Amino acid sequence: MNLINGFKLMEYAKGKGIVLPCFNTTNYELTYGIIKGLQNSGRGGYIQISSNNLELSSPQIIVDMVRFAMKDLNVDVPIVLHLDHGKSFDDVKACIDAGFTSIMIDASHLPLEENIEEVKKVTEYCHYFNIPVEAELGAIGGKEEAEALNKEGKTNSEDVGLFLEQTNCDLLAVSVGNVHGLAKEPNIDFELLKEIASVSTVPLVLHGGSGIPFDDVRKARGSNLIKVNYGSDLRKVFISTFGKAYEKNHNAFDVKSLSKLAIKAVSESVVTISNNINQK
Ligand code: G3H
Ligand code: ZN
Repeated sequence: MNLINGFKLMEYAKGKGIVLPCFNTTNYELTYGIIKGLQNSGRGGYIQISSNNLELSSPQIIVDMVRFAMKDLNVDVPIVLHLDHGKSFDDVKACIDAGFTSIMIDASHLPLEENIEEVKKVTEYCHYFNIPVEAELGAIGGKEEAEALNKEGKTNSEDVGLFLEQTNCDLLAVSVGNVHGLAKEPNIDFELLKEIASVSTVPLVLHGGSGIPFDDVRKARGSNLIKVNYGSDLRKVFISTFGKAYEKNHNAFDVKSLSKLAIKAVSESVVTISNNINQK
C-alpha cells in the first residue's frame, strides 16, 4: 500500500473508533522501525517529521524513505506522512510537492489574529490539494526554546469557535497540561479538554505523548481525540540501544547490527503505544 490521504485516515479512525498514534522520525532507521511497528500493530497511524528536523534532510528524502520502507515491509495498514510543527508556508509547499499527505502549521507563538491569518492561508492552499491541516491554539510547554520565548499557556476554550470558523483547519492541537519532551511532567487538565471538545467542530490532537500515562490518553479519548504525538519516547529507545552497547563495550562499533537492534526496539515500542492507547 502507498501513503494514504490524511482525510482518508481520519475517516478510517472514526469508522474504527480508534485514536491514531503519530510518531516522529528523523532518519532512516527510525523511519523503518516506525513503519514496521505500525504494520505489526495491525492499525493505521501517522509518521511525521517536524520542520526543525527537515534541516537534516529534504522533504523528498523523507517521502522516499517512508515509501521504500512501506514497500519493503508490504504494508497493508493505512499510513499518512505528516508535517509536524510546520514553521513556514515554504516548508508546507515543499512537503506537499514532495508527497506529504497531511500538514501542520504551527503559528501558536503569534498573537491570536496572526495565528488565524497564517493558518487560514495554509488551509486555503492545502485544501486546494485536498490535504488536511492541523493547527495549534495555546502553547505547549516543555522545551527550553519554547519556554525562553515565554510561549507557555493553555488553550483558551473561548477562542476555539472563532479560530476554527476563521481558519477552516481540520484538526486542532491543544495545550491542556501536555508538554513536549521528558524534562517536565505532564498533567492533563481533563475539565479543560472536555470544555474544548464541547465547542470544537474538529477532532483534537494531543502533542507530547511521551510521558503521558496510557490511562490518561484512554480517558482523553472521550473528548474527540483523534491523534496523539510521540517523539521523545522513540528517540530514547533508539539512542539507548547504541548507548547501552557502547557502555558495555567501548569497542562496539558494529553500526549495522546495532541499527537492526534499534529498529526492532523502535518497532516494538510503536506496537506497545498503539495497543495501549486503543485498549478498551
Ligand atoms: O510534535 C511532536 C510531539 O508533540 C512529540 O512530543 O517528544 O513529548 O512525545 P514528545
Ligand atoms: Zn508537538
